[in-house]
Amino acid sequence: MGRRQPAGGHPERLAISVRGLHEVFRIYHERPPGIKERMYRFRRSRYEEFHALDGIDLDVRHGETVALIGHNGSGKSTLLKCIAKILPADEGEVVVNGRVATLLELGAGFHEELSGRENVYLNGAILGLTRREIDAAFDAIVDFAEVHKFIDSPVRNYSSGMYVRLGFAIAVHVDPDVLLVDEVLSVGDASFQEKSMARMRSFSERGKTVVLVSHDLGAVAALCERTLVLNRGRIVFDGPTEAALDLYHQLMSTGELPAPAAAGQGRVGDLRARITDLRVEVGGLGVAAPAGGGPIGPVPTGSTARFAVQVSARDDLIGDGGLSVGLHVRRPDVPPSVYETRTSWRVTYLAPPPEGEALTVTFELDLDLLTGSYLIDFLVGNASTNALHERWSGAVELIVEAPSSEQGIAPLDARITVHNPDGVWPLESHPPPLDDGGPVYHPVRDGARPPAGR
Ligand SMILES: Nc1ncnc2c1ncn2[C@@H]1O[C@H](COP(=O)(O)OP(=O)(O)O)[C@@H](O)[C@H]1O
Ligand SMILES: [Mg+2]
Repeated sequence: MGRRQPAGGHPERLAISVRGLHEVFRIYHERPPGIKERMYRFRRSRYEEFHALDGIDLDVRHGETVALIGHNGSGKSTLLKCIAKILPADEGEVVVNGRVATLLELGAGFHEELSGRENVYLNGAILGLTRREIDAAFDAIVDFAEVHKFIDSPVRNYSSGMYVRLGFAIAVHVDPDVLLVDEVLSVGDASFQEKSMARMRSFSERGKTVVLVSHDLGAVAALCERTLVLNRGRIVFDGPTEAALDLYHQLMSTGELPAPAAAGQGRVGDLRARITDLRVEVGGLGVAAPAGGGPIGPVPTGSTARFAVQVSARDDLIGDGGLSVGLHVRRPDVPPSVYETRTSWRVTYLAPPPEGEALTVTFELDLDLLTGSYLIDFLVGNASTNALHERWSGAVELIVEAPSSEQGIAPLDARITVHNPDGVWPLESHPPPLDDGGPVYHPVRDGARPPAGR
């Protein structure tokens, strides 16, 4: 220990410190290789690598109770196993200060054929207790687990609730410094859940550290001030539980992070600089767009739209680098983006206005677009620090109507010709009525012979 100073403090103040952790699983192809594959096997890999953890950085201080939430398969159990050193890190570093007890998936660590009593001694020993220490804790463990009648039966006869109760009882009676709990609390009955939650609370009151994986968001909110959201092996949020749960709900319902293209409507950011007014003018038709003011349009293709974005900033932003104001056009049905621009890309970095003042950035666009609904997001960011001050997603919805019936976003105005080599079958059957101003249809007939049947 101590060969590295984790960011943000003395190593001994941190219970858990994880740096650049990658955990890679090899997924072997099960199909037996065909003859060709066997011949070329030396060139092919027989497995794929799957990054279950893809660069995790995490510090947990002593006494913190941290929740870890995320989709199934997001890597929660893998991360706990890496912290518990059950899985070795493929890359990166995991430092844990203090005695760790883990309560992993159901029954992990239990031997089916051994009795409850034998498993208590076995697990206690694995967790570093002496026989005498286990003797002293034994009755309390059995009481807590409420398995008196079955303590001498093999645990294979236990119900899942009994398994979990006994596992939890052992883990907490070992009195670890760091307790890792994976998804097991929901198995027990309500009174056991109460008891376990109370136990975890008293843990953190005594300066112990808990990392809790749970789908029980009520328990997460009740126990943890800090929550990590894991998505595809990465920590996508680390902060107050309430905000984490918001993000998690968004992830669950859309399967996507609220990235610019995926977010629906709404305003997020640290609001140190923010949009204080937004005016939209399309094709001479003046519209002041209020938040959620409903779609504007239909407006004809080629109309000019002007967006005046008024931005104010807090005083503490001055000297923090230049602002950038962005505009992002997207279609709800076409990820990810139709067009995106920023003042920092096209013009310059902007000095934040002093408090009480505002600057206004006007974007003027020609809506050379095909028929459809277009959402426009605005953002205020810090071009120097990349901080997001505000993103206003779906601030404006524009319905564009193009005369042609073509589909997509960009009117690329295809010039279409049709080639009928011998002119032997009728080229035209029921030609569609052509839209005014749409693409022009130029039938080309080869040779002098008129098409048959004409
Ligand atoms: N031993 C393993 N071999 C291959 N893939 C694994 C192994 N363990 C877990 N995975 C995969 O890693 C991903 C993360 O798994 P896990 O950490 O169990 O997720 P969670 O606990 O968030 O549901 C999943 O896609 C899972 O299928
Ligand atoms: Mg899991």
